[in-house]
Formats: sequence, structure tokens, C-alpha cells
Amino acid sequence: MPYKKLSQEFANQSLAGKKVILRADLNLPMQSGFISDKTRLINIVPTIKFLQQRGAAIILISHFGRPDGEFNQKYSLKQILSCVQQELETPVFFAGDVLKASKECSELKDGEVILLENLRFYKEEEQNDSYFASKIATYGDIYVNDAFGCSHRKHASIHAITKFLPSFAGLLLQKEIDNVEKILSSKEAITCLVGGSKISTKIDLLKNLVKKTQNLIIGGGMANTFYYASGSEVGKSLCEPDYKDIALSIIADAKKYNCNLILAEDVFVTKDVANPGGCRIAKIGEIKQDEMIVDIGFEALKAIELAINASKIVVWNGPFGVFEKRPFNIGSETIARIIAQKTNGGKIYSIIGGGDVVSAVAASCLSDSFSYISTGGGSFLEYLEKNSLPGVDVLKINDDA
Ligand code: 3PG
Ligand code: MG
Repeated sequence: MPYKKLSQEFANQSLAGKKVILRADLNLPMQSGFISDKTRLINIVPTIKFLQQRGAAIILISHFGRPDGEFNQKYSLKQILSCVQQELETPVFFAGDVLKASKECSELKDGEVILLENLRFYKEEEQNDSYFASKIATYGDIYVNDAFGCSHRKHASIHAITKFLPSFAGLLLQKEIDNVEKILSSKEAITCLVGGSKISTKIDLLKNLVKKTQNLIIGGGMANTFYYASGSEVGKSLCEPDYKDIALSIIADAKKYNCNLILAEDVFVTKDVANPGGCRIAKIGEIKQDEMIVDIGFEALKAIELAINASKIVVWNGPFGVFEKRPFNIGSETIARIIAQKTNGGKIYSIIGGGDVVSAVAASCLSDSFSYISTGGGSFLEYLEKNSLPGVDVLKINDDA
């Protein structure tokens, strides 16, 4: 269903004298008090410029961490203020209390930007409280959601606020939706790689993907539950025996929908993850009780490459193997290289989403070789699972209206 887009509605319109409330995902990752990744911030710059060029004043709102409805300086957005100013190349005012920012917002002049303090200092934010949303809405004339990373949250600044102001998707949200829709509506051959540790967190995703993709490659810890379900010994590997029937139903669905479900036929195993030198390659079915799976094998990589070669779109979420521990990152790194090479050669359109894979690709210095890197983690997954998100649904154009 079509949704309201800032880029369309205001392409040729002035916004002089208007105040735009811009919901961004400024929940930037921090390490030892420093911002470790500015991607989410950098990605909202085009929307900010779009608004400034049309004369709008911008009221930037976001959450930061999970302060659980209490004021807590550890989660103050003030600590990222100078970084925001730097990236936006513009001075940014700051209002220390979301509910007492009326004066500062009303004094904003055209093109000026103010950042409000962490929305989650109020419990009403996560409760999707209408009064809280309506109070924030009084600060502006238009609402823009550019926070794809939070659009799976039915929170006041994402959901309830749209009842009170004309509401639109920002440029980043639009780009993210376009990319996920490209996957969901594609008539071309798609290969999806889904890794990560637990099948229990990705059941709905797998169930939806078997209906839409030609090749579904399952890796990481969750693949072990599939081996177990099919009767193979997985030794000490991470496994969720309670999900055996779910794994079998996904295998059955794959057959029903003509999806080629690919699981590694060979893997690296070790008796001690702390001792990489002691690992060996084993076929599934030959794993001993005191061994655990730590990475995919060479035959598996060949099968993955063949699937990718036969695709036009490749989507990857969740790492394969114990990627955070060298050398068990080799499987994930090799997959990243295969996808990057095909993307650079113009053979495929590649999309990755989810923090772990994005970091794995960045660690291999391959980020520039992917067609699209989503700023969403949970939201990217949920969109692929449910074909929509609460924050996007409220921007849809209702034909009956
Ligand atoms: C994220 O980092 O996943 C988003 O900013 C959403 O944050 P949340 O998972 O705390 O809702
Ligand atoms: Mg999250």
C-alpha cells in the first residue's frame, strides 16, 4: 500500500515558517563513552538538508538506550550533540526536557535545528501514550519519521504522534522501505542467507522467506537445530531440541513452496573453542559427541557460491559460525567476499541488515561493496517477517479516507 513520502509531497514546496518534527534513530552504538558507529546519523543528513533547503526549522527527536522511563544522564542525548553538529554541519540547539521544550522550539528560525533530550526518559514513550505524543506534536507543524531502526516499535514518537500531525516518511525511511519491498515483491531469483545463534528468534522470518525465495541458506547456531531435527549428532553444539518440530515444518514448507533450503554438508568442529588449532572438518553425520560446530566447511561455501551465482538478489542477516572468534570468522568473511565480488561485477543486488553481519562486513572492509546496508536490525527482520512495520503502517495512504 502506498505511504506518504516527504520527498514527493514537498518536492517543489517551500517549508519556510514551518517546524518539522523529525524522528530519527540516534541510538548510536557507544564503546567506552565514545560513539563507535555514526552510520545512523550520517544516513539522516539528506533528510535534514532537504528540509533546510526548503526553509524548515527542524526539531530532532530520538531515544537513546533503554533508560526505562527515568531521567538518567548515562542515557543523555547531550553526549552525542557535538557529533550531530559536526555531521549536520550546522549548529544544533539542545532542550534538556522533552516536555518543557515548547519555548525553545517556538523560537527556532527557518533552517535551525534543535535536538530534544532522550524520549525514553518518559515511560509514556514506550507506552505509545497519546497525551505524551500530542504534547510533542504541539511543537511542530509536520511530522517526519526517518527512524527505520525503531519503526518496529509501537511507541509514541513513532506511532501515536501521527494522529496529531500531517505525517510523512523521510528520505532514509523511504530508501529502507524500497529495499525491503524489493526483496518481498521480487519476481527475480533471490537467495537469502539467515544465520545467528537461535532458530527460536527467527521462526517467523524463516516461515515467510521459504514462501518468497528460491534459495534459503541457513547457517550459524540455528542450523544445528535443523541437523538435530533431521537425526544427525550435533555433539556439544548450540542446539534447541524443543524446536525440532518447527525445524521440520520449515523443511516441509520449503518443499511445498519450491524453495531450495540449503544447509552446510560439511562444517568445522572442535572439542575446545578456545583452542582453534584443534579443529577439524567433518561431514554432517560424522560429528562426535564431544565436538561442537564452529564454522561452515569448504563444500558448504561452494554450495553457497553456486546459489549466489544463480541469483539476482542476495539478502543476508545473521552471521555464520562463531564469527567473533578467529579463525571461525572465515566462513562469514568468505561469504562476504563472494557477495561483494558479485555485487561489484554488477551481477547481483545485495542487501544486508542486522548489527552482527554489518559489523562482520565492516571488519572485512567490504561495506562499500554491498548494494544496500540497512540501518535496521530488529526492524529489518520484522519487516521481512510480517511484510510491514507499525511505524510504516501509520504512514500508509488509506484509499477509503
Ligand atoms: C536499535 O538500536 O535496535 C533501535 O534503536 C531500537 O532500539 P530498541 O531495540 O531499544 O527499541
Ligand atoms: Mg534493538
